[in-house]
Amino acid sequence: MASISPGIPHPRPELADELEYQHGFGNECESEALPGALPVGLRSPQRPAYGLYAEQLSGTAFTAPRASNRRNWLYRIRPSVKHGKFETAPDGLLRTGPIRDAHTPAAQLRWNPFPIPAKPTDWVDGLVTLGANGDAQMQLGVGIHLYLANESMTDRFFFNADGELLIVPQQGRLRLHTECGVLQAAPGEIAVVPRGMVFRIVLLDGPSRGYVCENYGQAFTLPERGLVGSDGFANERDFMTPVAAFEDREGDLELMTKYCGRLFACRIDHSPLDVVAWWGNNVPYKYDLARFAVINTVSVDHPDPSIFTVLSSCSHTPGVANADFVIFPPRWQVATDTFRPPPYHRNIMSEFMGLIHGAYESRPEGFLPGGATLHNCMLPHGPAAEVHEKASRARLEPTYLDNTLAFMFESRYVIQPTKHALQAPELQADYADCWAPLPKHFMGRPKRGPR
Ligand code: FE2
Repeated sequence: MASISPGIPHPRPELADELEYQHGFGNECESEALPGALPVGLRSPQRPAYGLYAEQLSGTAFTAPRASNRRNWLYRIRPSVKHGKFETAPDGLLRTGPIRDAHTPAAQLRWNPFPIPAKPTDWVDGLVTLGANGDAQMQLGVGIHLYLANESMTDRFFFNADGELLIVPQQGRLRLHTECGVLQAAPGEIAVVPRGMVFRIVLLDGPSRGYVCENYGQAFTLPERGLVGSDGFANERDFMTPVAAFEDREGDLELMTKYCGRLFACRIDHSPLDVVAWWGNNVPYKYDLARFAVINTVSVDHPDPSIFTVLSSCSHTPGVANADFVIFPPRWQVATDTFRPPPYHRNIMSEFMGLIHGAYESRPEGFLPGGATLHNCMLPHGPAAEVHEKASRARLEPTYLDNTLAFMFESRYVIQPTKHALQAPELQADYADCWAPLPKHFMGRPKRGPR
């Protein structure tokens, strides 16, 4: 059995939940909620213990290389095929790549925080797509959503066939009841649910808001460390996977799915979270971003933000991500003789950013917790004018950058904003004005005048 070690001292005790977890990333886990529910020595006994059904959930093709192969074996009260007929359901503001209801503007975009609706809205109903790229049916690209919810899912369950879900809470703790068990994520933590896994979300603190990266592509994994060595960045042991927990519940319940870009719903007469035991590596997990071991310069210059990559979904080109999840956490800044904030740049990759709390160093005004920015391929961006002025004159003492937690979903594919995102009143018409005051500092003169 994989080690279960809930006793790791928590760097932020206020985030510690009382649930039991297994630790590690990508390793084989196993768990049983009833003793002897897991078969030993074979996957599919003729008659599983407790009258359970054995079922596989694949996260990769059967023939994927062993190092990247993901699958689970679930031992459940009823097989997941037992449900009513799916009918199309209203999509609300949920969209899927390719987005065809708007054109991608050649503009830097920034949004104020979107409000949480007053009418009853659960996590699925509260999904609002800001943008997407690639093509979900081709398993390329990502969808980028907000969730704006005020109601728990009790009799409703959901699975996403279009991709894995990386959930980034910004306000309110979430408790995710999944086929593999229960996990909790607070602002400052993330949760990831594999493609196809059924779950429901309970809001522990009432109205809740956060971000979602729906990863159509290859599942997120940990980036290589290269010359840094065997430790640092996001360490494997800090990823936490739940232990088996099942619901033996019957009633008039609803199962929803997002399938090829549309929502579907059906009736189901029992809870599909009825997995009594499971083993495998295609698992949901949580991760506390405070455990990210930042590695940065101790001499000069501002390294590329790739040093802050927590998770990466590879594209078919080595080193080029379908999507990276990057964070900008509290950290020391010690570079000497250096302009310390992010430099002005144009990036072939497209960058969507959100802010969990505090302020973002490069643009502390106008980018608010719960808000967002989008800097697509080749569109220049960098510090606001006053940040450049201040950082150009700052005394370069060691300083601790505190009260900040921003993140980025970065993708090789241009992120197409939705029509809703482009027409929303939260879109800031004056965003680019933050660079307008940048003065001309140039003092040089040509050695010769024009002939
Ligand atoms: Fe950037």
